[in-house]
Amino acid sequence: MILHQSCLLIFLLSQCHSSGSVDLGHIIDKLNDHLRISANILYCNESQKLLNWESEYLHKAEITRMIYTSGAALNSTQLQLHIGDGSQLFIVISTEPPYDLLQVLELRFQHADFLIVTDQPIEQDKWLAFVQYAFEQGYVRLLLYTTSGGGVYGKTLFPHVRIDPTTVEEYLRYRDTLKNLHGYPVRVAAYKNVPRSFMYVNAWGRTIYAGFYMRFVRAFLDSKNASFVPVHTPSDSPGNCTLVLHNETVDICADSLAANPQMFSLTYGFRIAYANVMVAHAKPLLSYRYLEAPFQKSVWLCLVAYVLLIVSFLSCLHWQQYRRWDFSKYLLEVFSSLLFAGFTLQSIRGRERYILFGVIFMTGFVYSTMYLGLLKSMLISEVYEPQINTFEQLVESNITLLVDPYDRILFAKYNMPEVLWSVVETVTFETLLHHRNRFDQRYAYVLFTDRMNLYETAQLFLRHPRLRRIPINFAFLFTGIPMRKRWFLKEHLSTAWYHAFESGLTRKLAEDANNEAMSVGHLHYLITEHLEAKPLDLDYFVMPTIALALGHSLALISFVIELTAWRMCRSREQL
Ligand SMILES: *[C@@H]1O[C@H](CO)[C@@H](O)[C@H](O)[C@H]1NC(C)=O
Ligand SMILES: *[C@@H]1O[C@H](CO)[C@@H](O)[C@H](O)[C@H]1NC(C)=O
Ligand SMILES: *[C@@H]1O[C@H](CO)[C@@H](O)[C@H](O)[C@H]1NC(C)=O
Ligand SMILES: *[C@@H]1O[C@H](CO)[C@@H](O)[C@H](O)[C@H]1NC(C)=O
Ligand SMILES: *[C@@H]1O[C@H](CO)[C@@H](O)[C@H](O)[C@H]1NC(C)=O
Ligand SMILES: *[C@@H]1O[C@H](CO)[C@@H](O)[C@H](O)[C@H]1NC(C)=O
Repeated sequence: MILHQSCLLIFLLSQCHSSGSVDLGHIIDKLNDHLRISANILYCNESQKLLNWESEYLHKAEITRMIYTSGAALNSTQLQLHIGDGSQLFIVISTEPPYDLLQVLELRFQHADFLIVTDQPIEQDKWLAFVQYAFEQGYVRLLLYTTSGGGVYGKTLFPHVRIDPTTVEEYLRYRDTLKNLHGYPVRVAAYKNVPRSFMYVNAWGRTIYAGFYMRFVRAFLDSKNASFVPVHTPSDSPGNCTLVLHNETVDICADSLAANPQMFSLTYGFRIAYANVMVAHAKPLLSYRYLEAPFQKSVWLCLVAYVLLIVSFLSCLHWQQYRRWDFSKYLLEVFSSLLFAGFTLQSIRGRERYILFGVIFMTGFVYSTMYLGLLKSMLISEVYEPQINTFEQLVESNITLLVDPYDRILFAKYNMPEVLWSVVETVTFETLLHHRNRFDQRYAYVLFTDRMNLYETAQLFLRHPRLRRIPINFAFLFTGIPMRKRWFLKEHLSTAWYHAFESGLTRKLAEDANNEAMSVGHLHYLITEHLEAKPLDLDYFVMPTIALALGHSLALISFVIELTAWRMCRSREQL
């Protein structure tokens, strides 16, 4: 027989079925069928007994079986890797309550079913203590079977732990229902992590525990008739929630965290969270820049080139007709045409005048109409500097990205884009909140979607938001509600959370949480400033002044040029 002191994997296949009413083979088949289990884990630390059981009952089942004959042989990490996360049935053959098995399982397989087979009558005290112990370790799917008398026993946990005779059918019917916990206390870590969890005192002086996750957890506990016991943690950081889950002073945190298997368990991962960077909305254009704003630099250059060309051409023509240079007059004419202010080209003779007039008129018309049209529309609607839309632009503009120590660890682990690290500054949680809740535009912030929605709600009534998300998602991770590792309701909470997500309840919860957080003043709706008519300030006159100075200097330059040219001509004539 292939039995060693280590793990053995054997396939027991047989054709015949038993027809006995409550014999072991029948029970195992029933459980396997109903729970759609493909592999059983058989545990028995007494080889001789195992052989007897084998020949008597177990050889009949048509299923893969892994047999362990000692606790030392069972490595729970490897076993979990091997059989995965589906439903499992442990068949434990033991005279004594198998405390050692639960220890080696290291809080894994709490969702599995345990069929404990003993060859002695069930002694209430001994087995009650074991059921209580298993319950404290988070194992609640237990079924006892004794061969002496062939009885099947199930346990009832609430309001008191009891062991009662039952049937397999009944066990299967009630194994997933834990409807009434009779006020069993569940300790929930309460701290301020808006909008996921927060508390406030309402108008009647009662402390209200609210928030997206907090409301969900409370509704879950209500549905189970458990009592909600809030436990305030020393600080508002998720780091402290992790610590109190680890030392088991609380059962659950009303928050959403990334997996950390050393410290706590998580509800099923079916929801991917991601983060965005929130950065100041683009600043309004400085008022003196309005005059040059309608055209891009290249258009301005074209305009200058056009002026130079056409003025030189006109002057040449003039020289040809009169043998005299008159640069400044044509400069003025061209400027008038561009400003659409009336020009005549009177001094040019012949048909050339009409052709040139047409050309200059068209150009001036096009330029001035476009320019004035755009300028007017800009003055009516506000105009903004370019918005920061990529991480590279963020880094270039030297905006510091504030993160708290917890997020820093998280982002180091879950791939924050490399470029961002150069602008990251780690500050305490309080400092971060201080800047972020005031929508301080000097800094950028990283926010996960749920919190981002709150900050967007606060800016709902602004014409232009103060902070805006950069539309690049990163740090994708599965998050869930963190729970103490030994907590027996893990499976139930996971299922409830899944149903809430599936039915769309989570959306409603998120919206309500945002509104409630706003209504109790964690954030305030921002209001648009400058709604009144604004008198022009001096800024607006900077550009016209520049234009005036430019015109004067142009005039001066052409005057000087002409004067010199005239003198040179005179001196040549005199020679
Ligand atoms: C179980 O197996 C894992 C790797 O497969 C190993 O790291 C771990 O030390 C083992 N545990 C025990 C108790 O042997
Ligand atoms: C088998 O397990 C029982 C219960 O855990 C224990 O009391 C007993 O000493 C073990 N026997 C052997 C041979 O390890
Ligand atoms: C809920 O638990 C309380 C004990 O805290 C109990 O009195 C009550 O009957 C239970 N509710 C239901 C519906 O069973
Ligand atoms: C837990 O809270 C204490 C008190 O506020 C604080 O000093 C400590 O840094 C926090 N620990 C973590 C891991 O956040
Ligand atoms: C558990 O950890 C928290 C936070 O570090 C601490 O305040 C509390 O005293 C600890 N409780 C126990 C029982 O160790
Ligand atoms: C950003 O900061 C660096 C050094 O601190 C400086 O050299 C650079 O000019 C700054 N850039 C901007 C756009 O302010």
